[in-house]
Amino acid sequence: MEFTSKIKTIEWVNNTSRMIDQTLLPYELKTVDIITCDEMYNAIKNMIVRGAPAIGIAGAQGLSLAALELAKITNDVNEFLKKLEEKAQYLKSARPTAVNLMWAIDKQLEIAHNTISTVYGLTDAIVKNGKAMELADIEINKQIGEYGAQIVPKGATILTHCNAGALATVGYGTALGVIRSAYAKDQTIKVFADETRPRQQGARLTAFELITDGIDTTLITDGMCSYFMKKKMIDIVIVGADRIATNGDTANKIGTYTVAIAAKYHNIPFYIAAPLSTIDSNIKSGDEIIIEERDHNEVTHINGKKICPDGVKIINPSFDITPNELISGIITEKGILRPNYTSSIKKALSIN
Ligand code: MRU
Repeated sequence: MEFTSKIKTIEWVNNTSRMIDQTLLPYELKTVDIITCDEMYNAIKNMIVRGAPAIGIAGAQGLSLAALELAKITNDVNEFLKKLEEKAQYLKSARPTAVNLMWAIDKQLEIAHNTISTVYGLTDAIVKNGKAMELADIEINKQIGEYGAQIVPKGATILTHCNAGALATVGYGTALGVIRSAYAKDQTIKVFADETRPRQQGARLTAFELITDGIDTTLITDGMCSYFMKKKMIDIVIVGADRIATNGDTANKIGTYTVAIAAKYHNIPFYIAAPLSTIDSNIKSGDEIIIEERDHNEVTHINGKKICPDGVKIINPSFDITPNELISGIITEKGILRPNYTSSIKKALSIN
């Protein structure tokens, strides 16, 4: 049985990037058409589209939109490329932590610089590549799912944090892709989804996806994970990633590090599921990863209602770093990478 999510998060149609507006979920499943590079910058920054692989494709298609706009104002190739570079830097600045954004935009720039053609030809090549990257993302997730399903024990209860699902990718998902592939083989598996404060991606998005697909899902608040681990109600943890250093240290949604420590203490395997494009080959450890600091309103308010007194100080880092020694394996489209990550990551990237 093949089990496929019905969700298509981002899709290039008629020179437009059509995406699900994730800020409306789970109340409303609605798409929005992004038609300019500026609109794409805002969609990424304001998390209409979010999740590392999804914002990578959004960045790539943002550059497709930029190329289409620039082709209307110049037919000089050098001027086109110079302005395209500026748009690329602008799009990259929308969010700092998920490396897939930088990776995907750089892939588009490579196409632009390595294609010898007119502005029309370059634009066509960039647009086609943005679409091809979209289609490839689903295949990569399915490969991650296949590898990951092999390490999910029969009847297991899987804990996940934040949303690394179809909504964080083009479709199918990374951590949730593993869960979907495992479920295709064994319908007795269950999922515990962390709520994931402050933006509640676990409650709003992960629970929505899994319930839509008919998978047995229990929502818990972030502080509950060790309670259920001690009660032996969690068999394995699988989460996604926003950036992985070459030593395996992994940035993921704030709270992931706490889950990994609790899993280690209770002897529960803790896995990362991510495409190789989430590995940043330029950095040696998690210390080099920039952590996004987001709006304080995300902490002070829930559903528009203030939950704390005036005057209290707020800090809102959006991600944390899980050190490599807490990670049992990194599930990629090329197989499961094991410690020592410096050598297994090097090997995986060299055959990519
Ligand atoms: O801030 P977000 O919602 O873009 O962050 C996404 C995450 O951190 C997810 O946990 C995910 O694992 C990474 S994307 C598959």
